[in-house]
Amino acid sequence: MHKTILITGGAGFIGSHVIRLFVNNYPYYKIVNLDELTYAGNLENLRDVENASNYVFEKGDIVDRKYIEDLFARYNFDGVIHLAAESHVDRSITNPMEFIMTNVVGTVNLLNTAKTSWRGNEQGKLFYHVSTDEVYGSLGDTGLFLETTPYDPQSPYSSSKASSDHFVRAYGNTYGMPFVISNCSNNYGPNQFPEKLLPLFINNIRHGKTLPVYGDGKFTRDWLYVVDHARAIDKIYHEGRNRETYNIGGFNEWTNIDLIKVLCKQMDVALGNPIGTADGLITYVKDRPGHDKRYAIDANKLKNELGWKPSLQFEEGLAKTIAWYLDNQQWMDNVTSGDYQKYYEQQYS
Ligand code: NAD
Ligand code: DAU
Repeated sequence: MHKTILITGGAGFIGSHVIRLFVNNYPYYKIVNLDELTYAGNLENLRDVENASNYVFEKGDIVDRKYIEDLFARYNFDGVIHLAAESHVDRSITNPMEFIMTNVVGTVNLLNTAKTSWRGNEQGKLFYHVSTDEVYGSLGDTGLFLETTPYDPQSPYSSSKASSDHFVRAYGNTYGMPFVISNCSNNYGPNQFPEKLLPLFINNIRHGKTLPVYGDGKFTRDWLYVVDHARAIDKIYHEGRNRETYNIGGFNEWTNIDLIKVLCKQMDVALGNPIGTADGLITYVKDRPGHDKRYAIDANKLKNELGWKPSLQFEEGLAKTIAWYLDNQQWMDNVTSGDYQKYYEQQYS
């Protein structure tokens, strides 16, 4: 069946993998990628699909009400998959207002416009909001986040995402907006901006630069290969139940320092260096303020209800990821020129 779907933030890390999957799997859909191309948005991520006949790129800001209304009027969307966001916790600590504008105001702007555009004709429409496990806050040594875990966000980033989740549910409850929300753990893989742990450390190892480990390095995250997140989004978009929330995760918990040690070893092998070379770059630095101790996610609802599960073991995903960054050094060099240097100095000096 033909559908016109708006995917926001499609030039970013996860969004570009979602766009690729939808453009390739659904030739009879029209996929509209709306992205403002902030520092994190990069059309190079989509070179392989940019000329596909079922794909259109639109540059614009989700906060701009008039622009969003015009876009909905032009395309008459059947669905929205909303990924556009400010996504980096450290940046939210330095500049929370940008996060409130994009993540909260931008989301409400999309909801309002979808509500007006779909009013009285909600059948077959869907607003899919892509969110994070960080809305649940920080766990102790045991336990897992369930879909029913109360929200307890701790950083400006997670607070802005929690707020946007609440607005999506409020629009469902108050105006009958058809919606689904998913909350995913840490993604890794190709095309991730090198402010996030893995691509930052891969790039630093390549350049023989120190690896800044926050605090004692004993913080725990669950890691999922980005293509598996895109596969989950596809499943939930097509088969998820209206008004439901689905947790997405890799069943794959690591403390930062253990993960970094595996990365160092794989990088030494990939670069042909003696084992221990990258390890020598590890440097413990001042902790992130309010650093969440542990995230761990129970993704069994998605697994049992919709039959999704991660396709890759972590070591295999990590090897693929390292190979991608080493094979695409030009991509890395392009995104780390210019403003990136300023960011790096501010964050790590
Ligand atoms: P990203 O920072 O790589 O990409 C964000 C994209 O949104 C960029 O292309 C950027 O240009 C675009 N964007 C930002 N502000 C915009 C605006 N005002 N208007 C239009 N476009 C705008 O982010 P990501 O890591 O790909 O995350 C995508 C989504 O998934 C986010 O909503 C994030 O909260 C969520 N998420 C991320 C992770 C993760 O590990 N990265 C995990 C769970 C959930
Ligand atoms: O859990 C999902 C979230 O995962 C997403 O919602 C966010 O968009 C995404 O950025 C990610 O958040 P984290 O804060 O967990 O990711 P980050 O890569 O910034 O950090 C991962 C861990 O590594 C965290 O404990 C902080 C630590 N870290 C990070 C950086 C950048 C370091 O020790 N040193 C660093 O330089």
